[in-house]
Amino acid sequence: MQHPNYIDTIKLGDCIDLMSEMPEESVDLIITDPPFAIDFKATRHNYNRVDNRVLQGYNEIEGNDYLTFTLNWLTEATKVLKDTGSMYIFSGWNYLKELLIAIDECGLTTVNHLIWKYQFGVVTKRKYVTSHYHCLYLCKNDKKRIFFPYHRFDKDAKTDSGGSAHYRDKEDVWEIKREYWQGAMKTPTKLPAELIEKILDYSSQKGDVVLDPFLGSGQVAVVSKMKGRHYIGFEIVPAYYEFACKRLESGKYLIHKTDDEQTWDLFREEE
Ligand SMILES: C[S@@+](CC[C@H](N)C(=O)[O-])C[C@H]1O[C@@H](n2cnc3c(N)ncnc32)[C@H](O)[C@@H]1O
Repeated sequence: MQHPNYIDTIKLGDCIDLMSEMPEESVDLIITDPPFAIDFKATRHNYNRVDNRVLQGYNEIEGNDYLTFTLNWLTEATKVLKDTGSMYIFSGWNYLKELLIAIDECGLTTVNHLIWKYQFGVVTKRKYVTSHYHCLYLCKNDKKRIFFPYHRFDKDAKTDSGGSAHYRDKEDVWEIKREYWQGAMKTPTKLPAELIEKILDYSSQKGDVVLDPFLGSGQVAVVSKMKGRHYIGFEIVPAYYEFACKRLESGKYLIHKTDDEQTWDLFREEE
């Protein structure tokens, strides 16, 4: 059953409350990038050049509360996901353990552990440069889960070097560039459209309902709309919510292909 009040809307508020009001088994695909409990303010001085163009107010979670927080939102997300559906959760490595525990507690099955390899990690002097995030591909029922192996490449399509294109595309390390985001103001984090598009291609079809409970800039809703999916999104920070509303209303999607900004790392990289 679907709730008409939610379809193709985004709402301002705490996603745990908002998901608890949704009908169970009403979402085909969840793509989300929850807060990672890394203190953004502590590292801001390194990135002054972008500070005045970043919308403030990001809602962060204390590290000690991370497991409880994750259990709370993931329990609600699991309830609203259909038996045939899929869930993709992005995570840095700092609180990956808590996320994996919560996944077990919620009875979800891990289908793949994807790695998103990006460019422009933060330069380090005493350790290696972090240049990847984890993306956990999960489901409630592995037998019923829907997957479209040839949505992106035909069975016989070849890469430039003559290999199988669909095989190459389905490898679990995804090298995808972050986007350079033009415009006066922006939210501090954003998933690249290409990344969201790839997930939509493999795990949904036109007309499906896609939910992002931690919407930020609105990127998952925007790309879902562009690709003919229904979207639902929640965001707790009013300025980000309004920013996402404007993007969805205006049709100006602000998607760019290259990136020379490092705002992502404010949240992911320890000093
Ligand atoms: C890592 S960002 C998501 C960025 C998003 N994927 C994008 O591409 O723009 C996490 C977002 O979750 C929001 N948030 C944190 N706690 C929340 C809650 N309880 N309910 C809804 N949103 C929340 C934060 O304000 C932040 O915008």
